[in-house]
Amino acid sequence: MKILGIETTCDETGAAVVKDGRLVLSNITASSANLHEKYGGVVPEVAAREQIKVIIPVIEEALIKASQILNSKHEILNKSQKSKIQNWAKENIDAIAVSHGPGLIGSLLIGVETAKAFALVWEKPLIGVNHLVGHIYANWISLDNRPRFPLIALIVSGGHTDLVLMRGHGDFKLLGSTLDDATGEAFDKVAKLLGLGYPGGPEIEKLASRVQGLGFRFKLPRPMIGSKDFNFSFSGLKTAVVNLVHSDETIVHSKEKRAVVADEFQKAVVDVLVKKTIDAAQKFECQSIVVGGGVAANTLLRSQMADVATRIGRKVFFPSKVLAVDNGAMIAAAAFFVNRKVDRLKLQADPGLHF
Ligand code: KG4
Ligand code: ZN
Repeated sequence: MKILGIETTCDETGAAVVKDGRLVLSNITASSANLHEKYGGVVPEVAAREQIKVIIPVIEEALIKASQILNSKHEILNKSQKSKIQNWAKENIDAIAVSHGPGLIGSLLIGVETAKAFALVWEKPLIGVNHLVGHIYANWISLDNRPRFPLIALIVSGGHTDLVLMRGHGDFKLLGSTLDDATGEAFDKVAKLLGLGYPGGPEIEKLASRVQGLGFRFKLPRPMIGSKDFNFSFSGLKTAVVNLVHSDETIVHSKEKRAVVADEFQKAVVDVLVKKTIDAAQKFECQSIVVGGGVAANTLLRSQMADVATRIGRKVFFPSKVLAVDNGAMIAAAAFFVNRKVDRLKLQADPGLHF
């Protein structure tokens, strides 16, 4: 089954064709991150305006790439062959999946309305996908990855930090969430404070890798690391960084010192995420742990989670870095495993959608 997945919840516009939930035939993403850089965060109006421009070209490119990979008889060679693109999609695409929330309303509407239009014109089923479920299913996109149920899923993105227990496909029990800032949001805000670009996560990671073992050292809090629940809180950690930077003027002017701040901040976040996830895996006797969302691209999180899990005999799955951030392939994969067809005209964008 070949599903066209469409993703427009935030500043990315993604389209992908995925076969049977695991084999990516194409995965195209356009990002407007560079336009938001000077604001240190996404400006919803700017994101939506860009998405209107790029959504059709991105979908066309995804269809073209997929047709070339399959080398089908109607292989499309370039975008000028509009009627060939339509014919190929009608013949080869079995369903259209779109993430309809949570996210920014303007961005969501563009993806949802475009998906509805194609579903009607090509007469295909339409599948609405929760974006967070998409992040989880990025871990099934590989012919080798076979997470086993029950499992613990950690979603760490720009807007969410959730721990979820899954006993089967489509069965989600929310164990805990952030009480304030999301993990990615904390990375972005601390990056801004340190004068780094947007998105902040990769920037913090890059700067932290330059730590040189100077005498300059301090300890940041690990919020809620000892609490018995599975909730998180990152706003106090962010405030601790603000206070630190304001208490010592030399920090902003010294790249070495800023690197130490980035390194310690990243360690504090990762310590908390790993501890809570491993505790949940032990409490609910899960052999597999899957991690998804943009922050799952973080190298320290990947290595520390894998180390601790291996030590206690658990297996951790991470998507490739391309599939960790927002993309259309994860939406197509989720639609394959959690197939909820909807009336083509009734699907609504839902900014507050949750588990
Ligand atoms: O999942 P995602 O692409 O979009 C949302 O659904 O929000 O996540 C974006 C977030 C941003 O906050 C970004 O700073 C963070 O993921 N991020 C990272 C890394 N790459 C992206 N955070 C830490 N380390 C990274 N390497
Ligand atoms: Zn996301």
